[in-house]
Amino acid sequence: MAAPCVRTVTVFVIVFFSCLAGAHVVELDDRFNEARKSGKWLVEFYAPWCGHCQRIQPIWSDVGEKMKFSHPHIHVSRLDGTRYGVLKEIEYLLTEEDEPVRTLSTLQLELKVYLTDYCNTSIAISSAGLIEPDSSLYYQSNLDCTVILTVNNPSRILLQFYRFFLEERVNGVCVDSLTVFDGSAENSPAITEALCGRVDSFEVESTGSDVTLVFQTDDDGSNSGFGIFYTAFNDVPCSADQFQCNNSRCIDSTLVCDTYNMCGDGSDESNCDTGDVVADTGLPMIAIVGILVVAIFLVVLLYAAIRAAINKHKSKKLMEQLMNEMQKNVSANQFTDEDFWGSEKNS
Ligand SMILES: *[C@@H]1O[C@H](CO)[C@@H](O)[C@H](O)[C@H]1NC(C)=O
Ligand SMILES: *[C@@H]1O[C@H](CO)[C@@H](O)[C@H](O)[C@H]1NC(C)=O
Repeated sequence: MAAPCVRTVTVFVIVFFSCLAGAHVVELDDRFNEARKSGKWLVEFYAPWCGHCQRIQPIWSDVGEKMKFSHPHIHVSRLDGTRYGVLKEIEYLLTEEDEPVRTLSTLQLELKVYLTDYCNTSIAISSAGLIEPDSSLYYQSNLDCTVILTVNNPSRILLQFYRFFLEERVNGVCVDSLTVFDGSAENSPAITEALCGRVDSFEVESTGSDVTLVFQTDDDGSNSGFGIFYTAFNDVPCSADQFQCNNSRCIDSTLVCDTYNMCGDGSDESNCDTGDVVADTGLPMIAIVGILVVAIFLVVLLYAAIRAAINKHKSKKLMEQLMNEMQKNVSANQFTDEDFWGSEKNS
């Protein structure tokens, strides 16, 4: 019975938010480097796999709408940092001339591995984390750095490369490079070639419990480097404290619904009650919206009724008052001679 009404509300909510997103938040691409020179920009750097970013979208649209009227010279925008691969470069460009960039999202992963902090050592991992060359915007020169990632239980490692930008080849040869080996030594089989230049996102997995990353750089020039998510996993069957991904990987169950795609296929983030207003059109959200709309309507109705009653009462009273006054005035106007002449006449 209630279904058609619920559906109408769904459509209304979706249309409402997509209008806001379209009208008030500018979706940026790599032309931003030119565009940013005119006016001021408030930029949300986001990643499509990031749940925080999706959740903030309706709020961001709201900010865009309000700023359009209160501060029209400030452009509210967003930029897919994984697609244009240049998050660090853009941060750098902005910090060069403008205020330092603050990021909203903080990683809640096991470890953020800066490779240069672990040169020629081995790191024991058990869950998931992020690997970057170091904490600065551009990686260092003259590096020869070998880092081994080792898992005990679970027994394999997934590496998801989500951004990659090392110095371009010189005469067809990588001068800076990252190579991944499937084992605990450089003589293990390579699972990537020596990577350099710009590389689109991709993933590799180990057959055993170790991967070796070899990062080498020459003495001139450097770029923004790379970001690699690692996940410790094993094949099915999963143990009690593990989550079974749709692709049959078993990962630590604490990684489910943490907004990071740690399965590699997104299945650990696909059935989460994210409270994401745009995507989540499940009944509870709709029911809440419906109740809210009805409640607001009732309040407005009640207010109108009370106002009408008060007005009616007030005008009735006013009328009575007016009549009374007029009555008084009529009687007051019946002056006697005494009112004009006073008692003088009698004396
Ligand atoms: C790591 O080992 C390589 C090769 O043995 C060496 O050239 C390099 O200097 C070492 N790096 C550090 C930071 O110790
Ligand atoms: C899981 O994989 C199957 C096909 O293998 C696909 O049809 C289904 O949509 C996937 N489910 C999720 C949650 O990704």
